[in-house]
Amino acid sequence: MRFDVVSLFPDMFSVVSELGVTGRARKQGVWSIGLWNPRDFTHDAHRTVDDRPYGGGPGMVMLAEPLEDAVRAARAGRADGDSVPVVLMSPTGRRYNQALAEDMARGAGAILVCGRYEGVDQRFIDRCVTDEISMGDFVLSGGEIAALAIIDSVVRLLPGVLNDAESARQDSFNQALTGLLDSPHYTRPECHQGLSVPAELLSGHHSNIAAWRRRQSLALTAARRPDLILAAREAGLLSRADEEFLKGLGGGMA
Ligand SMILES: C[S@@+](CC[C@H](N)C(=O)[O-])C[C@H]1O[C@@H](n2cnc3c(N)ncnc32)[C@H](O)[C@@H]1O
Repeated sequence: MRFDVVSLFPDMFSVVSELGVTGRARKQGVWSIGLWNPRDFTHDAHRTVDDRPYGGGPGMVMLAEPLEDAVRAARAGRADGDSVPVVLMSPTGRRYNQALAEDMARGAGAILVCGRYEGVDQRFIDRCVTDEISMGDFVLSGGEIAALAIIDSVVRLLPGVLNDAESARQDSFNQALTGLLDSPHYTRPECHQGLSVPAELLSGHHSNIAAWRRRQSLALTAARRPDLILAAREAGLLSRADEEFLKGLGGGMA
């Protein structure tokens, strides 16, 4: 797995390349990163990467040429350079989610392009970009935080990255849990400020623990993300016991 990132702030990527599980995985050679600063692909003394928008209006727009040259250099450094996806971080793109992270984890990586200012010249998008991804309905100052989120969420799914492979399977949105939200977690001490760990988790009875977690997961999802319950039901992923439990909750989820 290799990510190439086109960014005016390449230093930001030490967060995934050096720290935590993603940093450890990179050092172990599970994935690699290439950083391409559009400023290194300019030809004027000021190393200009932006200019005023045609038609007027506030802010600046990133120039197409340094971005195209940076993407070309990134492609040239990859064995799959002709076919690798070129993904622009953009609030107007397709909404990112766990299913997309799982898709990307099955691939060989991508070139992630981080916009700044008011955005990038549309002709760069038309000529070079294969996908546009949004982190959600809010506007960031730049695409770097979006690209970091993609790299982190994809790399942690790669075989051997998490110490316990089971932990990613049990996370929220994972199809192993039929796409529901995760259940609550507890650790020591057994009693904290008068609040005890639920008895089921102390029972040592594996199937009771699994059933308790499943019910918690169903209740939390029904309360916070009923859309995920409907999607799991439509996909035929809820058992009869799940449906009975949801019926008992009321609130229109049955
Ligand atoms: C200030 S934003 C530009 C916003 C743009 N004028 C708009 O309203 O759609 C600068 C850059 O941040 C990145 N960005 C901002 N919000 C984002 C989001 N929700 N998801 C992904 N990237 C985002 C994009 O790369 C964008 O080009």
